[in-house]
Amino acid sequence: SDQYAVFGNPIRHSKSPEIHAAFAAQSGQNMVYRTHLVDDGMFAESAGRFFDNGGKGLNITVPCKVDAFQFADSLSDRARRAGAVNTLALQDDGTIYGDNTDGAGIVRDMLENLAWEMTDRRVLILGAGGAVRGILSPLLARNPRHIVIANRTVEKARLLAREFSELGEVRGCSYEGLAGSQFDLVINGTSASMMGDLPPLSPELLSETACCYDMMYSAEPTPFMRWAASEAAWAVSDGLGMLVEQAAESFCIWRGIRPNTGPVIEQIRASLN
Ligand code: ATR
Repeated sequence: SDQYAVFGNPIRHSKSPEIHAAFAAQSGQNMVYRTHLVDDGMFAESAGRFFDNGGKGLNITVPCKVDAFQFADSLSDRARRAGAVNTLALQDDGTIYGDNTDGAGIVRDMLENLAWEMTDRRVLILGAGGAVRGILSPLLARNPRHIVIANRTVEKARLLAREFSELGEVRGCSYEGLAGSQFDLVINGTSASMMGDLPPLSPELLSETACCYDMMYSAEPTPFMRWAASEAAWAVSDGLGMLVEQAAESFCIWRGIRPNTGPVIEQIRASLN
């Protein structure tokens, strides 16, 4: 059977093997999907060995997405924009194609699963790290009215905004600078959530019908999700759907089949508790 894997560090708690096993079972694909722990500085060597041994495709997670970007022989536009690759695929000519499905994953989760509107909405993104860079071009492609990127280190937000400014109206800002503004969609892309922390958000940031999305997920509502609920957000979601949707997009690149994600989101959700 065809060999796939997810490379990263840490990797033991990755949900990707379970997700791809479910997709493969659903669509009758003969494939195996494993995890591989990448030691410091060993990405290129490990990935090279994987493909030399007949591997067909990889997912790449933290902290190897930039290494994977450098490893790829060719890149999708969205991967080039993201400066990061989460999917590598062996091509017929033996070269390795790099793509980034994270942005497509979050957009698909919002539009298809949550039925959140994006066109003409005022979007706020918290954080200006790699996770946010990865989703900006697919988000801008949905024609929001504008995107504001707020970050603790404001200069990083401004630089990021400038890099994407040709794709739409996007600007960088400090958390303090948000006071008085209102948004229809707020996406938390900071890693603060993982430490049980929250950026300093001013009150009244949310419009009447504001949707709040945390790119992180966990069995319990995250601090950002609890903040959103306390601010009477119209809808709140964690990032589990994004995780499954980015996987589906990768699966589609490898196998040419779009899996049915709904049951898999439910399955993974049930396994969190
Ligand atoms: P990732 O690849 O997950 O995006 P990263 O590139 O290290 O990781 O970015 C982490 C993001 O979370 C950054 O925007 C960071 O803000 P700074 O750029 O100012 O460091 C943000 N972040 C992390 N901890 C935070 C906290 N306690 N409060 C606010 N923002 C935080």
